[in-house]
Amino acid sequence: MSATPDGTRTLLPMLGHTKGKRSPVTCALKCDNACSGEVCNTSANGYFRDVAATAMSRRAVLGLGAVGAAAVVLGTSITGAQPAAADSGQGLSDAARKGFKNSKLKFDAIAPVAADVDALTVPKGFTWQPIIRWGDPLFADSPAFDVTRQSAAAQARQFGYNNDYTDILPMPGGKDKRAVLFTNHEYTNENIMLPAGFDPAEGRAIGRAAHGLAVVELERKNKNKPWNYVQGAANNRRFLTDTTYELTGPVAGTDLVKTLDDPAGRSIRGTLGNCSGGTTPWGTVLSGEENFNGYFVTAGTSAEDKRYGLTSKPTARGWEQDEPRFDTRNPGYANETNRFGWIVEVDPFDPQSTPRKHSAMGRFKHEGANVIVGRDGHVVAYMGDDERFDYLYKFVSAGTYRSGDSREARRNNMNLLSEGNLYVARFTGDSPAAEITGTGALPSDGAFDGSGEWLPLVVDGTSAVPGMSVAQVLTYTRLAADTVAPTKMDRCEDVQPSLTTGKIYVACTNNSDRGKAGKEGATEPNPRTENRDGHIVEITETRGQGGTRFAWNLLLVAGDPAKNPSAYFSGFPVDKVSPISCPDNLAFDSVGNLWISTDGAPSSIGYADGLFKVTLDGKERGRVEQFLAVPRDAETCGPIVHDEERSVFVAVQHPGEDGSFAAQNSFFPDYVQAGSTPKPGQARIPRPSIVQVYRS
Ligand code: FEO
Ligand code: CA
Ligand code: CA
Repeated sequence: MSATPDGTRTLLPMLGHTKGKRSPVTCALKCDNACSGEVCNTSANGYFRDVAATAMSRRAVLGLGAVGAAAVVLGTSITGAQPAAADSGQGLSDAARKGFKNSKLKFDAIAPVAADVDALTVPKGFTWQPIIRWGDPLFADSPAFDVTRQSAAAQARQFGYNNDYTDILPMPGGKDKRAVLFTNHEYTNENIMLPAGFDPAEGRAIGRAAHGLAVVELERKNKNKPWNYVQGAANNRRFLTDTTYELTGPVAGTDLVKTLDDPAGRSIRGTLGNCSGGTTPWGTVLSGEENFNGYFVTAGTSAEDKRYGLTSKPTARGWEQDEPRFDTRNPGYANETNRFGWIVEVDPFDPQSTPRKHSAMGRFKHEGANVIVGRDGHVVAYMGDDERFDYLYKFVSAGTYRSGDSREARRNNMNLLSEGNLYVARFTGDSPAAEITGTGALPSDGAFDGSGEWLPLVVDGTSAVPGMSVAQVLTYTRLAADTVAPTKMDRCEDVQPSLTTGKIYVACTNNSDRGKAGKEGATEPNPRTENRDGHIVEITETRGQGGTRFAWNLLLVAGDPAKNPSAYFSGFPVDKVSPISCPDNLAFDSVGNLWISTDGAPSSIGYADGLFKVTLDGKERGRVEQFLAVPRDAETCGPIVHDEERSVFVAVQHPGEDGSFAAQNSFFPDYVQAGSTPKPGQARIPRPSIVQVYRS
């Protein structure tokens, strides 16, 4: 591939369009063609175990009520309106004590939208507007966005590109009128950002400056009005590729992470490939470094390089031409790739704070991390490794959560993710794998369910993997996990505990390779071969949040039930649901409903990606209702559901990504038609944006 990402002339023709597959632009720029390479897990670990071999009765496990089984549940920010009171009484938050309630956010589901519609489609009675767009100026001295005169220096002072994890946190004392927006900038689409002929080196520098993270202050007149961002606000911040991150935990200071630039192995420049994330009860934000491999040239010959998809081919963006660290064959940089692939923690309320990367949480293609506090006070983080046939993990903190916002509590909580135990999941079921057909028909007992265990990788500061030190387990977590026979999953994306029940939801987005020659076939937790639509696994911890046993079932086996008889919605009538495919990011509203945003539906069911509400309890359990659809070529990220305020927020990522600068596929969100004169602040290009949807 060309190392000169200067638009369609050099990049797109080499990508090639493959009908029926995910956008080739996404493949190259986002995940380094993970689907076309032999990146994925080829380890010969075990996967499917008969439940009869386990000591625990699956039925007995499943008979446990949610409250009895789960030791939960916190989640509100210390800076928010609700105090993050430590587990009291039954160990349940206010939301959990209330149980499921009716939502104030009522809407009639929209009809599925054709994939080529360049519009944000919302329910009747709602309207939308962007809060902030790629290029919007963040600081008092930031230049206004002008795509015809873009520069790296301007981009560094402007909102970056392609947002994934996003949250809005109320500011202390802000009285519903002030908040901070945290978001990340996962990757860039140079093919639609820059005109053909743009200076290649400056183009690469713009791309770098559009990566990273951002914190932006918001304001509004009252809670019934939409948010606006505040240029020049005190908390506004861009995290760039030269921002310093502190590496915490057992890997910090070891030889595995030392480089010419950082001989101490504790100080890392930049974060890359940030995907989903989570917000902690102590008011910080986590972000997962996912497809970091696509930014590096390596020897590509070691087991470690191969397991992490690191190769010797030139990268799509060619940053190795500008900084020696992006080619680890350069003297002094052999360990540079070991400094990416971590969970990042940011304090969005302290613009002077040093963001951190937590080595205790392991290194893989982190989709994100979502935290919950167990009854015993230990913090548990659930994490997916988004690669076909890779694994589901959980981290249990060594320390315990302290409630309140005192300096001592804050110092304590800010260190919780630096030390703890790391586990990987093995699922078992009771139906022989042969019962599960290639089309995903129900097993003979009518349900996808089973039990499972969390297999230790690091416990009490000791490696549970023979032949690997703690630092090696945490740095080469995929290889360590391979040795203990976890379950190969269909690309775990967001993994999120419900703060209403403590159950954990795992979005398995798809895996079209399952069952192909030489690849693992269907298993109960991944029941479809050539799984193009994905599914949602629901997990119940049976021995407390930090325990090592769980029960599970499938909430959804996604698809368009009108065309695909294998789609399954927990028994809810399939003619009463919105078709859904490729679940990616998850969120909950305040009354316990699950919300799912999708990434890839155009390639599977032929509709635009969107955001969907899923009822989890009662007669309507499994009911899927589509709330919105995103513009052409876009993926739906975020999301944030403020149902009490009848507002929903999404990040519209990579709108129009299959176009070119000269022939754009999208003009979102400005909708200036080609040939017309742009109004001030508008441009004839798509601009990835954070969008709010609210009652009109
Ligand atoms: Fe960035 Fe796994 O999606
Ligand atoms: Ca994702
Ligand atoms: Ca989420």
